[in-house]
Amino acid sequence: MPTEEAPAFLLASAHRRTSHVPVWFMRQAGRSLPEYRKLRGKGSILDVIRSPEIAAEMTLQPVRRYGVDAAILYSDIMVPPAAIGYGVEVTQGHGPYVPLPFRSPADLGRLRALEPEVDIPFVIEAVKHVAGELRHIGVPLIGFAGGPFTVASYLIEGGSSRDYTRTKSLMRSDPTVFAELLSRLGTLALDFLKAQVSAGAGAVQIFDSWAGILSTGEYKNHVLPSLTALMDGLASLRVPRIYFAVSASHLLDLVASSGCDVISIDWRMSLSAARKQLESRDMHQALQGNLDPTCCLAPWEVLEKEAIATLEEGQGIGHIFNLGHGVLPDTDPAMLERLVELIHSVPLDTLVDRTSDDQ
Ligand code: CP3
Repeated sequence: MPTEEAPAFLLASAHRRTSHVPVWFMRQAGRSLPEYRKLRGKGSILDVIRSPEIAAEMTLQPVRRYGVDAAILYSDIMVPPAAIGYGVEVTQGHGPYVPLPFRSPADLGRLRALEPEVDIPFVIEAVKHVAGELRHIGVPLIGFAGGPFTVASYLIEGGSSRDYTRTKSLMRSDPTVFAELLSRLGTLALDFLKAQVSAGAGAVQIFDSWAGILSTGEYKNHVLPSLTALMDGLASLRVPRIYFAVSASHLLDLVASSGCDVISIDWRMSLSAARKQLESRDMHQALQGNLDPTCCLAPWEVLEKEAIATLEEGQGIGHIFNLGHGVLPDTDPAMLERLVELIHSVPLDTLVDRTSDDQ
């Protein structure tokens, strides 16, 4: 790739033509990589990332191995609440655990503002280190935060949940406190992302993984206000703002109205249907996605066929190839290596021309 050309990932985010469709994978750091396991050791991810050199190395590993078009910081969505002392643990294999969950309005007092230089100097260091390394090869680093709703769900439930009963109960029984909680978590995410962009991140992604459990009306009333404020706050940073939620096709119009630049969608809705729907509302966000991560466990011929179908659905311009959710731990890294090679080998013209034939 000529170094003077803007990275394909950034061009695609801005809906501009690229030589190939850019590709990266959610949860590409860690998970299935043997070089990650070697470095990981025991203990919580929240402790591991306190060593900026190790976090930086884990961020760079998938870039080296897969040749992806973007890196994502090795960190977690629970880092900000943990950093301000809310009391969050993340145990290996189990995910987040909050021993004293959010139970009453008084718990709002446990959410103070983030002071990046004091609370997360190690994240800033890791981002600087990674951005410095990636600058030479023209690969942007994606900084990220959890969506206010998804982080709230962990704080309220005390951990992962099947049906989010406590979260939904609080939302319905005390919408004012719920709104205040999400507003504070939105500010926390904003300050966390600002610190990452100042340190060199070239894009940001909001992981609002569990927002899809809400109805359209609930999402509009209870989630969209804090999300829109977050997107507004990020606008002046002038980096692409990606938004991701699982099982959230029904929320597409509302997500687009939040002001994000790229919408990452899962495999349940086709990229072309999403594009058509957005265009009918005169909205033109780039799309990211959306291969079912279980396809990476299938024989190569199956994976290849599904990946090509995804590329065709994406129509070449304004498409960032990704999975519909994170890389599954059982994925063979060799399959992802081959997948990146495949995506990079398909000339954009073949995808764009096919579309214009269809119209
Ligand atoms: O994408 C990447 O490779 C970068 C790193 C990253 C991690 N977490 C590291 C991690 C990212 C982007 C996340 C986001 C995250 N964290 C989400 C949103 C994405 C999604 O999967 O929907 C959520 C819901 C979390 C919360 C969380 N953290 C869970 C549910 C778990 C446990 C289960 C698991 O393995 O995903 C974690 C722990 C965590 N975060 C690990 C890693 C590598 C697991 C192993 C460890 O503790 O070291």
